[in-house]
Amino acid sequence: MRIDRRVNKVRGEIRVPSDKSISHRAVILGSVAGGRTVARKWLRSADTLATLDLFRALGTRIEERGEDLLIEGRSFLFEEPADVLNAQNSGTTARICMGVLSTQPFFSVITGDGSLRNRPMLRVVEPLREMGARIDGREMGNRLPVSVRGGGLRGISYFNKRSSAQVKSSLLMAGLRAEGLTEVVEPVLSRDHTERMLSFFGAKLVTVSEERGHIVKLEGGQELEGREVLCPADPSSAAFFCALAVLAPEGELILREVLVNPTRDGFYRKLREMGADLEYENLREVSGEPVADIRVRAGRRLKGIKVSGEEIPSMIDEIPILAVVMALAEGVSEVRGARELRVKESDRIKAVVKNLRGMGVEVEELEDGFIIEGRKRLRGARIETFGDHRIAMAFAIAGLLAEGETELDDPDCVKVSYPNFFEDLSSIVEYS
Ligand code: S3P
Repeated sequence: MRIDRRVNKVRGEIRVPSDKSISHRAVILGSVAGGRTVARKWLRSADTLATLDLFRALGTRIEERGEDLLIEGRSFLFEEPADVLNAQNSGTTARICMGVLSTQPFFSVITGDGSLRNRPMLRVVEPLREMGARIDGREMGNRLPVSVRGGGLRGISYFNKRSSAQVKSSLLMAGLRAEGLTEVVEPVLSRDHTERMLSFFGAKLVTVSEERGHIVKLEGGQELEGREVLCPADPSSAAFFCALAVLAPEGELILREVLVNPTRDGFYRKLREMGADLEYENLREVSGEPVADIRVRAGRRLKGIKVSGEEIPSMIDEIPILAVVMALAEGVSEVRGARELRVKESDRIKAVVKNLRGMGVEVEELEDGFIIEGRKRLRGARIETFGDHRIAMAFAIAGLLAEGETELDDPDCVKVSYPNFFEDLSSIVEYS
């Protein structure tokens, strides 16, 4: 795909597709609960369809009705799948569903695409084994495919040193069917959608912050009750348009119904710190999550900033687009403590460094981040997406702000989280 025009103005308003994390969890919690769950405005993307297909393969009846999903919960009584389960490109599907499969006394195998088969799984496999699940897989269980034979679990106390929400969620799902108490402690609070949705579905859990970290505890043997969940717009998808609106020569954009959970909105806080004109309006609560309309105006010159390790979890998926903003800010910017980016859908540190350099930016690569020298202009370039949706979208935005032509090698990979990204993008821009 070629991007050969520069944006002059952004305008109008847009409701980007619903949050991916919440859409996955609506299917997972709806399936393990009793009774019917309705997920309104559910995100239909490659990743979330992987979760839907997986639960159908376990016998869950799920019907798509327009933008909604109707799920007939199975109260944790699933059927042994007849074939290998495939999480495709989705780490969230693989890792959280391993927690659910660990509660089941049957045999299952879960695999994924080439990227996912390269990503580390021991972070969930080890604690699930400690709870009593029998899990095997390539590289001693660190790589998919892995096989699971579950059941007979007991609760554990686990220190989640990477503050991974996927790990926390996986253990909480297993903990619902374990004997006794399951406790997950994390140094920095990771996205807390599972905790919020569990409470919304009637589970009793305790969340506290102590010196040893943020703790969530739940007792096994609890029943969840199906609910109606309204999925809000995804702040990780809205971030691309927000960045464009901040960096365009002129204009104003309203992003409707965006999830602004404080464990997710670090990118927006950082933009404000850089000097962007950005406001939350009409703040409200929807299905247990805070939601707002975000108004953003172009025209301010931004300044460079530092992002440290404790800030990373609240903006982990936004670092590629934040790097593009940093490249066009005044002065030096730094991201540190973000080693996790090396094991996402691609090595995002490498992908960001390579593509920004291609656009004429001076970047120093660090093991756990990068240092970017901001400049006034980007130069169009050939972008290597590494098959990673967030790299493709971040550099499509960079291309619209660059002089000359930018070419994306694999624009189709955006379907993982945002199938209509390019159509939506063209609805809010005017070219010079
Ligand atoms: C997610 C958690 C994050 C994030 C991913 C979605 C989730 O990963 O990067 O895109 O829905 O729980 P980690 O929990 O591994 O950091």
